[in-house]
Amino acid sequence: MLHPDFQARAIALPLFRSVARRRAADLFSLAGGFVGSQVLMASLRLGVLDALAEQPRPVPRLARDLGLPEERLRRLLQAARALRLVTRQGDDLLLGPLGTAVLGNPGARAMIEHHDALYRDLVDPAALVRGANPAAPEPPGAGQVARLWGYAGRGGGCGLDQAAVAGYSRLMARSQPLLAREVLRAVPFGRHRHLLEVGGGEGVFAAAVAERHPSLRVTLFDLPGVCDGARLRLAERGLGDRVAVRSGDFRQQALPRDADVATLVRVLHDHDDDAALALLRAVRVALPPRGRVVVAEPMAGALAAVDAYFAAYFLAMGQGRLRTPTEVTALLRRAGFARVRRRRTRMPMLVSVVVGQRPAASDDGALD
Ligand SMILES: C[S@@+](CC[C@H](N)C(=O)[O-])C[C@H]1O[C@@H](n2cnc3c(N)ncnc32)[C@H](O)[C@@H]1O
Repeated sequence: MLHPDFQARAIALPLFRSVARRRAADLFSLAGGFVGSQVLMASLRLGVLDALAEQPRPVPRLARDLGLPEERLRRLLQAARALRLVTRQGDDLLLGPLGTAVLGNPGARAMIEHHDALYRDLVDPAALVRGANPAAPEPPGAGQVARLWGYAGRGGGCGLDQAAVAGYSRLMARSQPLLAREVLRAVPFGRHRHLLEVGGGEGVFAAAVAERHPSLRVTLFDLPGVCDGARLRLAERGLGDRVAVRSGDFRQQALPRDADVATLVRVLHDHDDDAALALLRAVRVALPPRGRVVVAEPMAGALAAVDAYFAAYFLAMGQGRLRTPTEVTALLRRAGFARVRRRRTRMPMLVSVVVGQRPAASDDGALD
């Protein structure tokens, strides 16, 4: 058992002092982490970061420009400076390194802004774990994440109209470009003839692949409500003819055939193992012998904070889980894929890639 006086004893011993200090600092960051997140949220929502990006200015002017009480703004800025969101030069405040990083990454900003939903679900974390709240309307605010991802916890999602999917579809579209760049670097799509982009959302990834590989045919498959948005966005990008859009529910219907490569970008982790396995099997059936499947999503093991984040996120969502590349590999093998390989990306905390191949007809045997 841990001695209650452990900290005091450790700090008294020169050999253990630095470890004791580091552990105390880590514990403080862990315990107070939610405060930092909310300081970031306030700085975004009140327009503090946008205003400083536009022009550095002293606190009284910033308060006047944003219509905020100066003394209260000073407290927020004290916190924001400590967290490196803003910094100071003489009397002027300007963006700090992390403030610059947030504004320079519209995808990260969109994700941060949507944390309102997760934050409300985490108000009573014990109830969340007990299962008291995810889909229930009470207590107020519970089940916000599950509600955002309308297909979560349902048999499918075909009944969701465009309005019901608009929130998550926009969020995914805004956060996709950075990810798409990494996946395109990791996978040589140019060697393929026809890509099936399963759960392709509003088509940001499909558009990126189509633009990079002009001779590749692309078909996007998603729920009907999402496909309406995808058709619109693809037409806006002048890709209405290049990317075919097929709507349906992959839990109920077969996937379109003819493609020789299929992508699942941030799709598999949304589903529990049984549903994920069924989806991979459906992809395998849709592919020809030697056709490839590409699973691209954040995977466990890249960064501890990311693992913790997604564990809580999927708990709130009520389904899905972050898998290690080894677990994704095992699922792919169980679904009948062979030559399963990991492809390195430059940002594994954002996306990892695992590729599998449907065996040649002669080896495409019975599966468990
Ligand atoms: C987390 S989003 C990822 C979207 C996109 N691939 C991206 O990374 O931006 C998951 C996508 O899978 C789609 N999806 C979920 N369940 C589905 C189902 N049963 N049939 C077809 N699409 C589904 C959702 O509509 C959504 O667009």
